[in-house]
Amino acid sequence: MHRVTWVLGNWKQNHRPAAAKVGAEAIADGVAEALSNPDPTAGEVRVGIAPPYLSLEAVRPYTRLDDTVVLLAQDCAAQDEGAFTGEVGPAMLRDAEVEGAIIGHSERRAYFHEDDALIAAKLRAVLEGGLVCVLCVGEALEARDAGEHESTVISQLSGAFSNVGPELVNERLVIAYEPVWAIGTGRNATPEQAAQMHATIRRWMGERFGSAGADRSILYGGSVKPGNASALIAAGEVDGFLVGGASLDPTSFLAIVRAAATTARPTA
Ligand code: PGA
Repeated sequence: MHRVTWVLGNWKQNHRPAAAKVGAEAIADGVAEALSNPDPTAGEVRVGIAPPYLSLEAVRPYTRLDDTVVLLAQDCAAQDEGAFTGEVGPAMLRDAEVEGAIIGHSERRAYFHEDDALIAAKLRAVLEGGLVCVLCVGEALEARDAGEHESTVISQLSGAFSNVGPELVNERLVIAYEPVWAIGTGRNATPEQAAQMHATIRRWMGERFGSAGADRSILYGGSVKPGNASALIAAGEVDGFLVGGASLDPTSFLAIVRAAATTARPTA
């Protein structure tokens, strides 16, 4: 089984509808060229955009143009409906023709106090809802400096998957390793650091869920730029990227898509 390479743009709290439309249009215009690869054996690459909720509708027409571009939300509630002020759940996302959601981003963990139990509930709800789920994990600088980066990420994984059975582990599940110290700092993990952690995540997923777990695409996120994308993928374990700051500029984002497309693992 070959793993899909993903390049996902997380726009965070940027791009109100008018700006989102301009950004999505520029990405849609350039994506076919960026994905074109003269090597017919090159692996599949999928591109995604995660705008703020209120800009989903503005972006939707541009993601519908081509099956290779998917529309994602940046979060998703653990329930479909009810008395939960401010929440948007899987059924609402499906109605809005959103294909997936990012869950457990470190900014949600840090600023909105999302804990393992909440992330576990959201992960299960998104997968049960039939959406693509991009589960984010990653250690803070203190954990890295203390040599506790692997145990931190494993603990995040076991928390997130505490309530997920093997029947929900399929191609709709994508994992993103995003070391907190690399997000928005301009300091990316080295290809070796990323490859090592991705191998650890893959081993854990394999032990927990067998080959369905081990075969999941694992993305890297944290200061990904056109200049470091190829080296990160070339290290071997990185199946694409979750891109924050650089995804706000369509030229940079498309350059990262191009780098991923030219280094995507050949189809098995
Ligand atoms: P960054 O953000 O690319 O701006 O570091 C990545 C992310 O938070 O997903």
